[in-house]
Amino acid sequence: MGTRELILLVLISTQTLLVSVQSQTNSLDFTALKALKDAWKNIPPSWVGTDPCGSKWDGIGCTNSRITTITLASMGIGGQLTGDIASMVELLTLDLSYNPDMSGPIPPLIGSLKKLTTLILQGCSFSGQIPDTIGSLPQLYTLSLNSNKLTGQIPPSLGSLSNLYWLDLAENSLSGTIPISNATSPGLDQLFSTKHFHFGRNQLSGTIPPQLFNSNMSLIHLLFENNLLSGSIPSTIGLLSHLEVLRLDRNGLSGNVPLNITGLTGVHEFYLSNNQLTGPIPNLGSLVGLNYLDLSNNSFDVSTFPSWYSSLSSLTTLTMENTQLIGQVPSAVFSIPQLQSVVLRNNKLNGTLDVGSGTSNQLQLVDLQNNSIGAFTDRPGIRFQIILSGNPICDGDVKTYCSPPQSGPPYSSPTNNCIPPTCSLADQASSPNCQCSYPYTGNINLRAPSFAGIGNSTIYAILQNSIMSSLNNFGLPVDSVSLSNPTRNIDYLVIKLAVFPSGSDRFNRTGILSIGFALSNQTYKPPPIFGPYLFGASPYKYFEVATASSKLNTGIIIGAVVGGFVLVVLAILAGVYAFRQKKRAEKADKQNNPFAAWNPDKSSGSIPQLKGTKAFTFEQMKKYSSNFSEVNEIGTGGYGKVYRGTLPDGKMVAIKRAMKGSMQGAVEFKSEIELLSRVHHKNVVSLVGFCFDQSEQMLVYEYIANGPLKDSLTGKSGFKLDWMRRLRIALGAARGLQYLHELADPPIIHRDIKSNNILLDDRLNAKVADFGLSKAVGDPDQTHISTQVKGTLGYMDPEYYMTNQLTDKSDVYSFGVTLLELITAKQPIEKGKYIVKEVRQRMDKTKALYDIQEVIDPLLLGTTLKGLERFVEVAMRCVMDTGAERPTMGQIVKEIESIMQLAGINPDYESSSTTTSATYEGTSQPFTHPYGDESLFMYSGVFPPSSLEPK
Ligand SMILES: *[C@@H]1O[C@H](CO)[C@@H](O)[C@H](O)[C@H]1NC(C)=O
Ligand SMILES: *[C@@H]1O[C@H](CO)[C@@H](O)[C@H](O)[C@H]1NC(C)=O
Repeated sequence: MGTRELILLVLISTQTLLVSVQSQTNSLDFTALKALKDAWKNIPPSWVGTDPCGSKWDGIGCTNSRITTITLASMGIGGQLTGDIASMVELLTLDLSYNPDMSGPIPPLIGSLKKLTTLILQGCSFSGQIPDTIGSLPQLYTLSLNSNKLTGQIPPSLGSLSNLYWLDLAENSLSGTIPISNATSPGLDQLFSTKHFHFGRNQLSGTIPPQLFNSNMSLIHLLFENNLLSGSIPSTIGLLSHLEVLRLDRNGLSGNVPLNITGLTGVHEFYLSNNQLTGPIPNLGSLVGLNYLDLSNNSFDVSTFPSWYSSLSSLTTLTMENTQLIGQVPSAVFSIPQLQSVVLRNNKLNGTLDVGSGTSNQLQLVDLQNNSIGAFTDRPGIRFQIILSGNPICDGDVKTYCSPPQSGPPYSSPTNNCIPPTCSLADQASSPNCQCSYPYTGNINLRAPSFAGIGNSTIYAILQNSIMSSLNNFGLPVDSVSLSNPTRNIDYLVIKLAVFPSGSDRFNRTGILSIGFALSNQTYKPPPIFGPYLFGASPYKYFEVATASSKLNTGIIIGAVVGGFVLVVLAILAGVYAFRQKKRAEKADKQNNPFAAWNPDKSSGSIPQLKGTKAFTFEQMKKYSSNFSEVNEIGTGGYGKVYRGTLPDGKMVAIKRAMKGSMQGAVEFKSEIELLSRVHHKNVVSLVGFCFDQSEQMLVYEYIANGPLKDSLTGKSGFKLDWMRRLRIALGAARGLQYLHELADPPIIHRDIKSNNILLDDRLNAKVADFGLSKAVGDPDQTHISTQVKGTLGYMDPEYYMTNQLTDKSDVYSFGVTLLELITAKQPIEKGKYIVKEVRQRMDKTKALYDIQEVIDPLLLGTTLKGLERFVEVAMRCVMDTGAERPTMGQIVKEIESIMQLAGINPDYESSSTTTSATYEGTSQPFTHPYGDESLFMYSGVFPPSSLEPK
């Protein structure tokens, strides 16, 4: 606690002080929130002290000392949502919407928040897969993960969310098929309470499974637009008797439209456009409530204008572009009473266009471009726009209806009978009440409005009034709202919204996060004609910076009144308070130990996730490493030191001990151990145990006798590695890495493959070392670098470096560099020369050994190097510029196996002991960095990308 806060605390008032001496916040919750706070940047300034509930941190809501709501929409916070959130077990609502700097994966531990009803993470930059643990949140009612960078499949487990009302996954990069239940796994067909499936703008593929729909469902909005769905529309869709909005447009759907679709009599908005549907144009005459119909761009059978339109008395919008229509447009169409827009472009409609005498008085647009219309019956009093360009009638003609569509001036909410001032401050705007202020802005995306979305300003005025009165009813400090620039983008009608503050020229944080939540949580509901909406906020950068100073002023007055003596007493009280808080936080730390439930003395079998992994106490670690003695130090790096140790049964281990600064959150540490303990392969160094005790974090690995490959290549370890051994090492390392990529669950990307991280055991078997989440944690001041680009200069994939997109092909690149090292025994960058470039330039495939003798390890030259050429080729394919060109680890394993077979070596031959396989030359020296992940070449953020390949 800083002096300033201390003074503040003393001054605010005796009353608050006496209340807050007893912290109101549960210590577990505080510790978890503190961890999130530490992981985030740009947190609200009110987040000081140790009592989020008592001192009312912005966006934090509490019930009886427990944190129950976190709503931080549009706060500009950034960073990762770490697993620490999992400790706030009373949490009901989590809204982090519209914080584009929130990134990284959604932590699987979120599945521990069993009381969560509302999870809204829209409009951030979350990536990776949707954790299937979200399916184990029994109370979840609203799930909005839309507008992020999520990938992978929709987890079938979401089908277990029996209370889910709102499921919005739109605008991500989700792929794969829509999961349905089977004998062993849940599926979305079981979401009987869910009214909203919003899956638009993803890459979902495969057919829409017929089993997805059943009559127990209560879906009202089914939005699958703009995906890669294929196959025919399942007839089971007719079972969705509550459906109001159906969007299947912009997919690859084919076949006939099923007849059952005519049973969807409650549907108002119906989009089948931009598919490859065939057969007759479906008869939609039974959908009498239809407002908006779009059948454009399909491959329906050639047909005259369907006659069923006459029963659609509520239709506002009829769009049938490129729908193979022929013949004449019946004039009765234009007298559908609500009709606003008729778009029939790119058909073969012919004859005479006559809109008749009883046209809808709401009609605004009749667009018949590119048809075969030869005549037009002009009638007096037509006020709507008719577009006939591209028809024979317009050949050489200059009639008004032959010009392309005209758009009027863009709509903008009018002012309330006042003259808008010129606002002098940048970014300020004039409100409808003609006050200059900083509005909260964003786009309202109407996903399926029932109106055409053109020209009728009355409609926007209705929306504007509805938003204004709702925000007022919610008690939010809003002066006025305005709408402007409605435009149709490919999928939605987009309108710009500006919300202006009342009583000040800017909103405070509470104002913004409350308005943000009203829109992200769909608490604000527009009138039904607007259909489902999605709000996307622009960042709000105008919060007052010095909120504390006003409090200080009041404080000074109070301070002056109560006088010096009381001040001293209060200061002492505050000191006591601070001390107690510290104690409390310490206690919370202890209580927050996620390992508490694991009894280290019990057999490991009682901890199913940790098969074969043992929990050690600090005392044990101390004892086994002879008090962490210097002689046992076998490695060092940015994370701390590595010690050799001996367990009571004589087994040797390597103890990786984290320094204070590089420790992870307890929850992260636990999940890392769970991850590492699941990794079992003979070419991967395995985790023996861990220590999470007395504020220490240690990982205990099996001890690998002969240390890093690098030491053997440089002659440091005293081995001579002949060609046969090098091939075997390459194969072992490749198999270890293949295991991590293809067989480990979840798959693991190593991120730092290099000769220093491939260890050789006493039989010279290669073992991949030093992988796991801990790689993301480095020097705390450098986390922004190490979490973004991690690796070692010379081995690092240039594509990963440029794009920050980490894939398994980044490991393949590093592995390729390591293979070149095996051949050349050179560092990747030596005397300013980059090994990849050196080999690439010298390589001449027409010559023996590809003419790279000059760079081959002299120790190998003069021996038979069977298969070396193919080996070089594999290595060079691994270091191709783009990941897509590089082979997978599985392909590399196969290739090396085949090289070995051709060279007459059995790839699966295991040498029995060191003495028979390794030739000692001179004395073996102790190695220094067997588990180290740092080296002199460790990327530190100062090298420009071009220095990756030194000229
Ligand atoms: C319009 O097209 C239909 C079908 O192609 C044809 O039978 C009819 O004669 C055409 N009418 C006119 C006036 O060209
Ligand atoms: C505009 O829309 C409103 C509401 O739907 C309607 O009542 C009004 O008649 C429309 N005005 C015009 C000119 O179409």
